Amino acid sequence: MTTYTAKPTRYDNMSYRRCGNSGLLLPLISLGLWHNFGHVDDFNTSKQLLHTAFDKGITHLDLANNYGPPFGSAEENFGKILKQSFSSYRDELIISSKAGWEMWPGPYGDHGSRKYLIASLDQSLKRMGLDYVDIFYHHRPDPDTPLEESMGALHQIVKQGKALYVGISSYSAEDTLRASQILKDMGTPCLIHQPRYSMMDRWVEDGLLDVLATEGIGAIPFSPLEQGILTEKYLKGIPENSRAAKSTGFLQKDAITPEVISKVQKLHDVAQKRGQSLAQMAISWLLKNDQITSVLVGVSSEKQLLENLGALDNLSFSNSELQEIETILSMK
Ligand SMILES: NC(=O)c1ccc[n+]([C@@H]2O[C@H](COP(=O)([O-])OP(=O)(O)OC[C@H]3O[C@@H](n4cnc5c(N)ncnc54)[C@H](OP(=O)(O)O)[C@@H]3O)[C@@H](O)[C@H]2O)c1
Repeated sequence: MTTYTAKPTRYDNMSYRRCGNSGLLLPLISLGLWHNFGHVDDFNTSKQLLHTAFDKGITHLDLANNYGPPFGSAEENFGKILKQSFSSYRDELIISSKAGWEMWPGPYGDHGSRKYLIASLDQSLKRMGLDYVDIFYHHRPDPDTPLEESMGALHQIVKQGKALYVGISSYSAEDTLRASQILKDMGTPCLIHQPRYSMMDRWVEDGLLDVLATEGIGAIPFSPLEQGILTEKYLKGIPENSRAAKSTGFLQKDAITPEVISKVQKLHDVAQKRGQSLAQMAISWLLKNDQITSVLVGVSSEKQLLENLGALDNLSFSNSELQEIETILSMK
């Protein structure tokens, strides 16, 4: 086994933005381990992806208890890779995990109780071989648990030294404001919100971004490429091995309709005129707003990762480009 040494040039080309009002800087592009890092995937490819990401200045890696499949296997594989390649770089990494979706059977393996959140993080730490994560999230709102209890668990986790910062994911604007106020009162401010956000899914623009700005919370959009739809990949059908084709992929084939592909083709043409690929334009489009701390991408190959990093070469849009994109997105 060859040992990994990080490239000395790793910080030369990446930019970092401050996460909300905190002291923490995150890279403009972060890497998510939802797909492509489970036991169903090739371990050496996963490892190579992490080496390349870090060599390019991607210091933030995002996990969750249930990433795989099977559940927990992305954290297990990541733990192995950390040990083999990154043990001397731990202090250069921001590692996040989450709990909130179904993880184990029975009443304590899902949702938002203190019991679940604390037990789940303990399991995640064991799987990854870590003493603490940098960021721990409540993965989704739980209307049946008092917000005070879920936020109280996040606060307790920080007090126990098991996480440095806390965040929330997919919370509405209203719940985010309440959660933020509860956390502030306890002395553990909410660092970051992880919402689904892309050119094709704009719900955050309807109040959430305003709340994040007033509360000083960072924003890290997930599925910025709509799981691959906002790339050239599906323009000519559904390729073998793509997320939509795989039985373990979360993207359903029926999301790729002729109407969607017609928009994607038009967006692709705009991207070409900008000298970008569509994947690059989709990432740049999010990062043009400096309220977006980082964009959380997933990749199944090194080629995709390098392509996506190329988005950083052009983050500005002319008014006419923005108008053209809006016109395409609003087509029926
Ligand atoms: N908080 C939450 O509830 C939540 C939910 C979902 C995701 N997340 C986080 O967000 C991360 C990113 O989500 P995501 O994986 O859905 O993001 P995404 O970037 O929208 O989609 C990633 C997929 O798109 C394809 N792709 C990426 N770059 C490409 C390129 N240049 N050309 C062609 N295809 C490309 C690949 O799929 P193929 O396999 O087809 O190659 C890749 O696996 C996750 O890993 C996770 O950390 C969080």
